[in-house]
Amino acid sequence: MISSRARAIAPSETLAITEAARLLKAQGRDVIGLAAGEPDFDTPPHIKEAAARAMARGETKYTAAAGTLILREAIERRTREDTGAAHDPATEVLVSCGAKHALANLFLAVLDPGDEVVIPSPYWVSYPMMAVAAGARPVFVETRAEEGYALDPGRLRRALGPRTRMVVLNSPSNPTGAVMDAAATASVLETLRDSPALVVSDEIYDRLVYDGAPVSPASLDGWGGRVVVVNGVSKAYAMTGWRIGWAVGPREVIQAATRVQSHTASAPSSISQAAALAALTGPQDCVETMREAFDVRRRYVVGRLSAIQGLQCPTPRGAFYAFPRVSDLFGPGPSGRPVATSAEFCALCLEETGVALVPGGAFGADRHVRLSYATSRDLLAEALERLAGLAERLLGQGASRAP
Ligand SMILES: Cc1ncc(COP(=O)(O)O)c(C=O)c1O
Repeated sequence: MISSRARAIAPSETLAITEAARLLKAQGRDVIGLAAGEPDFDTPPHIKEAAARAMARGETKYTAAAGTLILREAIERRTREDTGAAHDPATEVLVSCGAKHALANLFLAVLDPGDEVVIPSPYWVSYPMMAVAAGARPVFVETRAEEGYALDPGRLRRALGPRTRMVVLNSPSNPTGAVMDAAATASVLETLRDSPALVVSDEIYDRLVYDGAPVSPASLDGWGGRVVVVNGVSKAYAMTGWRIGWAVGPREVIQAATRVQSHTASAPSSISQAAALAALTGPQDCVETMREAFDVRRRYVVGRLSAIQGLQCPTPRGAFYAFPRVSDLFGPGPSGRPVATSAEFCALCLEETGVALVPGGAFGADRHVRLSYATSRDLLAEALERLAGLAERLLGQGASRAP
């Protein structure tokens, strides 16, 4: 009954842990969810009002498959301001139901069975699954905490092969918060110069940067024909539920992705598109207000995590996640149940403390866990207190303290 393709796709662990936490909460447990990848802020009022006005005007019908032209024009303008690269809004911009949908369309449009997709690791959970859904094979390139999760050109070169059709870059990164600056982007593109692979640059966190300045691969001269920029309104404007994201890039690729979308989604929501237009063209101070709030929480969370014995937590430079290494706490858990993986650690943490984290294994880093600091200071304080207590108990129980 079920295709081999669907059988090969694991459920999203981020959504799974969020659901497990929701169930516990429904049973009356005191749960603090730090697993979800979304801002705790509400969508700014002027954006909601634009959506209400669109409904009142009767903008309640299908739009063009690639999205309304006025929104595509705004996206093109935004991308041009960010990268310096101009595109034709009519043929080189695709609006989708979230950045995730834009990426899924691209993977289906570009990849054939047997092709390879190069993905730096730790990676956002959905990239490998999207490759698998397209019949392609993910090829991972290790990045290391002690190198600031920078993509090493030598390791990248070794991952490239005759079947490489796509390289996925994600800066700022989910889950590590690493940011590719001008030098890092130039060195990665230099490594890719002789490869025909398409570069897919997922820039969904580009407005949420605290240290350094991300430089899009699309902004480097001569790369316009090889780079697709993916972005959206979910994170920067607290609009995860509105489901609007986009892809901007070479015509042939965008047109193919649009064909895929036209048969699987018809078009994104007309009302959400009006809201996204207001987000892009309206006042931007709401973004800065949220960014500043995240930055305060980031410093607080990293400070507290670093003070917990048994955890190592580099300072993320963007997005809203901390990605501490917890493997020093692996070992015999309470009641002798061993903790040997990030999933076992997160299950224990949820059970013992009610704090929901995402296992690093979901991102290809099984010695880590991800926690989102896009939640209130009070909840963060309470969650970190509980986490510190758990760490102390595990160390007392003879956790491995392995390097
Ligand atoms: C790296 C990355 N890319 C894309 C997305 C998808 O964003 P959207 O909500 O626009 O589909 C997310 C959401 O968590 C993400 O973390």
